[in-house]
Amino acid sequence: MNITIIGAGAVGRLWGCKLAAHHTIHFWTRDNCQKLAIHLSGTSATSSITPEATFQFDANQPTLLASSEVVLVTVKAFQVEAAIQAFKAHLNPDTAVVIMHNGMGSQQTVSALLPENPIIYATTSQAAFRPSENDVRHTGLGPTLLGGINPQAEDYQALGQLFDDALPPCTWQDDINQPLWRKLAINCAINPLTALHNCKNGELARSEFNRELTGICQEVAEVMSAEGYPITGTELRQQVDTVINATADNFSSMNQDVCHQRQTEIDYISGYLISRAATHNISVPYNQRLWQAIKDMEKHYHDQ
Ligand code: PAF
Repeated sequence: MNITIIGAGAVGRLWGCKLAAHHTIHFWTRDNCQKLAIHLSGTSATSSITPEATFQFDANQPTLLASSEVVLVTVKAFQVEAAIQAFKAHLNPDTAVVIMHNGMGSQQTVSALLPENPIIYATTSQAAFRPSENDVRHTGLGPTLLGGINPQAEDYQALGQLFDDALPPCTWQDDINQPLWRKLAINCAINPLTALHNCKNGELARSEFNRELTGICQEVAEVMSAEGYPITGTELRQQVDTVINATADNFSSMNQDVCHQRQTEIDYISGYLISRAATHNISVPYNQRLWQAIKDMEKHYHDQ
C-alpha cells in the first residue's frame, strides 16, 4: 500500500519506519523537505523488535499524497486542523485518514474538513522520542487501538491487521471512543502533574500524589459514565498506576513540552474533560486546577 504519514515527530517517525517493512511510505511535513532520513533505534527492552536501521523516505510530493490509500496524521491535537488544511487539496476522497494524537476533541473539526473520507481514530501506548534531529528511539511497547468514527469507515477493520503487522499489538475497535476516554484519563492524571512537578512518570507513585491522582480519576470516571461509558474511579486509578509503573523512567510528553517551552496539549486533555463535564453539570475541581496551572505556565514561558 502507499501510505503518507503527516508529521515527522517521534510517533510519526516510529510508525513510518515500522510500516515501511510492508508498505511504501511518504512523509508530509511542515518544512517542505523532499527527502527524509530517519535513524531508528530501541532501548535494550525493545531492541529485539526494533533493530537499529536508517530509513530514507520521499517527502512532500503532492502526487504521492494523492495516490496514498491511507494517510496517518500524527501531529498534536492542536495542529490537526492546520495540517489537514495544508494537505486537503491533494487528498483523494477515498483515502482512509487515521488520526493519532493524545487527548480528545478534534473529531468534529476533522469530520467537517473531510466530509467524504473514511475517518479512523487511533490511540497508541507505543513510546518514542527524538534524541536528535534525525534520530528516533523506540522506548516502550504497548497496545494500539483504532476504529472508525463515520459510516464511510465501517469496512476498514483490515487496518487493524495492517497496523498490527507493523507494530503489534494493534486491534480494531467497534467503538473507539471508549479506549480514547480511558487514555484521556491516563493523560489527565500523568501529563499535567509530571509537567508541574518536572518529574518522571514513576515519581507519581510517591504517596504525596495519592490524593490528587484519586481525585482526578474520580472526576474522569463521573464524566466518562455520564458520556455513556460507565466506569469507576478505582478502575481508572488502577490503569493510571499500571501506566505510571510501566513508564516509570519516561518523561511524559507534556513534561517535555513544558521543558522546551512548547504549546502543550492541555486543552485537548484536561480542557476536553472540563468542557464535557460542563455539559453534564459535573464539577471537576482537581482537573480544573491542573488545567489552570498548565495554562499559567504556558503564559509565562518567556518571562525568564
Ligand atoms: O503523553 C504521554 O507521555 C503518554 O501518553 C503517557 C501515557 C502519559 C506516558 O508518558
